[in-house]
Amino acid sequence: MPRLSSLPARVKIVEVGPRDGLQNEKAMVATDTKVELIHRLCDAGLSVIEATAFVSPKWVPQMADASDVMACISRKPGVTYPVLAPNLKGLESAIEAGATEVAVFGAASESFSQKNINCSIAESLDRFRPVVAAARDANIAVRGYVSCVLGCPYEGEIAPQKVADVAKALFDMGAYEISLGDTIGTGTPGKAQAMIDATAKHVDIEKLAAHFHDTYGQALANLLAVLQMGVATIDSSVAGLGGCPYAKGASGNVATEDVVYMLNGLGIETGIDLEKLAETGSWIAGKIGRQSGSKANLALAAKRDTVGA
Ligand code: HMG
Ligand code: MG
Repeated sequence: MPRLSSLPARVKIVEVGPRDGLQNEKAMVATDTKVELIHRLCDAGLSVIEATAFVSPKWVPQMADASDVMACISRKPGVTYPVLAPNLKGLESAIEAGATEVAVFGAASESFSQKNINCSIAESLDRFRPVVAAARDANIAVRGYVSCVLGCPYEGEIAPQKVADVAKALFDMGAYEISLGDTIGTGTPGKAQAMIDATAKHVDIEKLAAHFHDTYGQALANLLAVLQMGVATIDSSVAGLGGCPYAKGASGNVATEDVVYMLNGLGIETGIDLEKLAETGSWIAGKIGRQSGSKANLALAAKRDTVGA
């Protein structure tokens, strides 16, 4: 039987639905719903759940209840609930809310950096340095994001070396893991591999995560391509929720259900219960009045209906 080469035995899934998935929703999602979503994801076996973002409520109104979300979740031992913190103000609020892990977020594109966080790439790195240092002093782990790694909504193509430079800067300042965001989902497998190849020359591949949006339906193919290179951390969003407020037209992250279905088929462990996850996907899609963006979810729901009928 033909085999796929060098796949990891286990993959860590970072569920970003409660943050990336919901941040772009126009209608306010009730805090209780966000909290229940996090609890359900936890019950489905997710061990890293990005819970919310301590960003300016003027920029991203949907995340204005960040402190309330953090106050209301029941934290399960062994599960981490990272939050976004773009500056010292965000970090202070995150610490006050009891966060034990934060993420700073930069970009490989100057224009996107300006639109998303209102400063240049160089300024963002200068801004993140004291955030990472203060977080580490407080025993808080820091993740670093790089956006636009496979294309920018304003600049188009992005050179892999630009991604590598920003990833290296974030890693060198103390981020323990670098998540590489195909923010607008334009990447294809060869480009994804070239980007990982350039970045892994500066940051060990086991410290890299793939954060692929699925706008062009390429995310699973891109994930398989980078899994074969040794990437073993994947960011995804239940029901494929989401998009970025500063990347018009970008659709959600790759759906967690689709990723887990693919990994199950490859015999790769995730610790996630696909049925429970799919039920959670259907539930949150219903709550926000959307059809699930996960094909696996739709197929499993149809199968449940047929069996139940
Ligand atoms: P700014 O306007 O340049 O900041 O925004 P400022 O320092 O000049 O402050 C302006 C006002 O914002 C002040 O309030 C501050 O107090 C307030 P005012 O005096 O006018 O009333 N402020 C804050 N309030 C709450 N929390 C804070 C905070 N900081 C300042 N942390 C800033 C700069 C970074 C804050 C702003 O641009 C911002 O919040 N941007 C966030 C954008 C965002 O959340 N984007 C989506 C997440 S990134 C993403 O989705 C990509 C990713 O998924 C990976 C991928 O897919 O590529 C991660
Ligand atoms: Mg994203």
